[in-house]
Amino acid sequence: NPSNLQMEENSGLSRVNCRAKGGSPGFKVAILGAAGGIGQPLAMLMKMNPLVSVLHLYDVVNTPGVTADISHMDTGAVVRGFLGQQQLGDALTGMDLVIIPAGVPRKPGMTRDDLFNINAGIVRTLCEGIAKCCPKAIVNLISNPVNSTVPIAAEVFKKAGSYDPRRLLGVTMLDVVRANTFAAEVLGLDPRAVDVPVVGGHAGVTILPLLSQAKPSCSFTPKEVDDLTDRIQNGGTEVVEAKAGAGSATLSMAYAAVKFADACLRALRGDAGVVECAYVASEVTELPFFASKVRIGRTGIEEIYALGPLNEYERVGLEKAKKELAASIQKGVAFVRK
Ligand code: NAD
Ligand code: LMR
Repeated sequence: NPSNLQMEENSGLSRVNCRAKGGSPGFKVAILGAAGGIGQPLAMLMKMNPLVSVLHLYDVVNTPGVTADISHMDTGAVVRGFLGQQQLGDALTGMDLVIIPAGVPRKPGMTRDDLFNINAGIVRTLCEGIAKCCPKAIVNLISNPVNSTVPIAAEVFKKAGSYDPRRLLGVTMLDVVRANTFAAEVLGLDPRAVDVPVVGGHAGVTILPLLSQAKPSCSFTPKEVDDLTDRIQNGGTEVVEAKAGAGSATLSMAYAAVKFADACLRALRGDAGVVECAYVASEVTELPFFASKVRIGRTGIEEIYALGPLNEYERVGLEKAKKELAASIQKGVAFVRK
């Protein structure tokens, strides 16, 4: 029945259950917004992840085609597609990890906050579904403005009585990916060898790269620090302008989302020492949400690390970041409480 589309591809659930019972890892992952610019390559990369046994693809348009296409890949995960809000519950039931790239992207001249009016409502509806159907799932929230959508998700979960701050993570991995790439360019190193923590939030001055803590330990000139900080803070805008109206970062974001989701799944499996930057409920500053390094484990976030020593440049940046972040958090909270 095409009006009640629910595709099940590959071998069916029984074999998956056997495998899971056999003790080999296999997690159930849903992507909400799976037919979009990020969603499609993200779905492809998650289908390639050996830690995924079941992959649910949900969107309000085009999931039949994306699901049929992805399902032909000869990897282990069973793929099912879900179309439209009446199938949201089925898409979410039983999921271990929910990744949310649903919502509209920027066009040149817009800030991420300009997306609030449309995306806030989308995130609220999707999170109401999560609270109802998979309240124990880990949530990776990508939809912008992340600085406000994560507080929105937290408020929705609180209202539903299911809020566990350890399980809600705003995805800022793309800022780290960019920081590593751009710093490596300056240092003449392989980006895979570089690790730059990025803290704060995910918009403009709230994106605070801590270049003084870059690994391997290195020193930048003041001009290099200025240029690098500016490029990392405006990396998203660089892509939006280059795409000239056709959207924002999708491919690098899908890469970053998979890197982050894979870290969450390894942590759920029980791997030790899984540490990534993410935007989470936090006491690292006086703000209720802040991005910093977090250690993820079987129950979600198990430890949030302090910022460590900052230099004067970073201390000034932190004050600017906190001012903007406070307003964005407040806006998100007010949207649900109003
Ligand atoms: P897109 O327009 O290509 O795709 C968005 C998808 O969401 C579409 O398929 C659309 O149908 C779907 N959608 C809309 N409303 C929905 C709903 N109610 N339920 C489920 N799906 C719904 O956009 P994109 O380029 O994939 O970007 C998606 C979001 O991710 C944007 O808000 C963008 O700003 C954000 N983003 C965040 C980061 C980050 O670092 N966190 C990076 C890049 C983009
Ligand atoms: C990004 O950093 O690329 C995303 O937040 C998308 C955007 O609007 O810049």
